[in-house]
Amino acid sequence: MIVGVVGGGQLARMMIPAAVELGIELRVLAEAEGMSAGLAATAVGDYRDAATVLAFAEGVDVVTFDHEHVPQEVLRALVEAGHRVHPGPDALRFAQDKRAMRERMAELGAPQPDWAPVDSRDDLERFLADHGGVGVVKTATGGYDGKGVRVVRDADEVADWLGGALAGGPRLLVEEHVPFIRELAQLVARRPSGEAVVWPLVQTVQRDSICAEVIAPADVPPHIQPLVDDVARSIAEGLGVTGVLAVELFETSDGRVLVNELAMRPHNSGHWTIDGSITSQFEQHLRAVLDLPLGSTALLAPASVMVNIIGGPASGSMADRYQAALAAHPDVKVHSYDKAARPGRKVGHVTAIGDDLDEVAYRARAAAAHFDA
Ligand SMILES: Nc1ncnc2c1ncn2[C@@H]1O[C@H](COP(=O)(O)OP(=O)(O)OP(=O)(O)O)[C@@H](O)[C@H]1O
Ligand SMILES: [Mg+2]
Repeated sequence: MIVGVVGGGQLARMMIPAAVELGIELRVLAEAEGMSAGLAATAVGDYRDAATVLAFAEGVDVVTFDHEHVPQEVLRALVEAGHRVHPGPDALRFAQDKRAMRERMAELGAPQPDWAPVDSRDDLERFLADHGGVGVVKTATGGYDGKGVRVVRDADEVADWLGGALAGGPRLLVEEHVPFIRELAQLVARRPSGEAVVWPLVQTVQRDSICAEVIAPADVPPHIQPLVDDVARSIAEGLGVTGVLAVELFETSDGRVLVNELAMRPHNSGHWTIDGSITSQFEQHLRAVLDLPLGSTALLAPASVMVNIIGGPASGSMADRYQAALAAHPDVKVHSYDKAARPGRKVGHVTAIGDDLDEVAYRARAAAAHFDA
């Protein structure tokens, strides 16, 4: 069996060992030479070009993705040409477009922040006035790592976007500014034939709008896990998601959870599963898109903590740092994405597992600190 992955980043890279173990061939359509997933058989080409993606899909059994940016026209061309595409265009739409996602969450009755589409300055001003003078404005498409998200108290703070919106630029929405006490993520994997499994709910910690750390499982009140389990499964089913779905959530002080956004692929909040769960999210994604039986999501230890390695201004010689981290922390797993370290860029992660959360977190943070600028 051959899986074709569009996108050559670290998510495609981390599918490679899982593919090897499952006896599956992985082929990657990378954006450029020398990308993180270049260890797999790699074609280089533009994922926005239908002819390129159609040619890549020839000879693979299923097409899946390392990112959500493949345009709908290209996805539909694949389906029309008879290729198996997981997740399919009808599901991916809701990971590509936050306005469409918010509308669909409302239809499904999933808990979410108050929100409104913004097609004019008036729309935004009215929403701010109704929500204590503050809101979170987002571009409907194209955002990542907090780009495309702004907390605003005055419409002038998004004057550039508003100008664009009126002139056919990015479509916008505004959300209430949720006073969350924690951010959570629920991963679920679903096969085309319907079987779905969840991992335990995790806590994600963002710094400068980039995921810095993941704590698994999240230390939440007991009613939250079954609630979120239900929300995630009903989204996966309601949207017809195949493969791994990550539901990012806010936890509020009054014990509610609200859906922030969706990712339909392995997700940073699930990297800990490589070392902390019987089945990693990468293996599960491959199983799911091939409609193979799914693996157990049971934990290998009571606590896992993943800390991202993020490039900084002084992260010149990463090789030395990896050496130092390996030497000092033989009981922590260090993962490198083989990417040049640029400020703010995720270039690897470390995971520690064990019995005691505080001790595990201490070890993971200490190992990751070797990479601090
Ligand atoms: N309505 C909100 N209220 C409060 N904080 C918010 C809200 N929406 C987003 N945030 C904060 O901004 C971060 C980024 O928002 P979001 O996840 O929508 O953007 P993104 O750039 O698409 O992120 P990602 O890197 O996950 O793709 C969130 O993790 C959260 O910390
Ligand atoms: Mg997010």
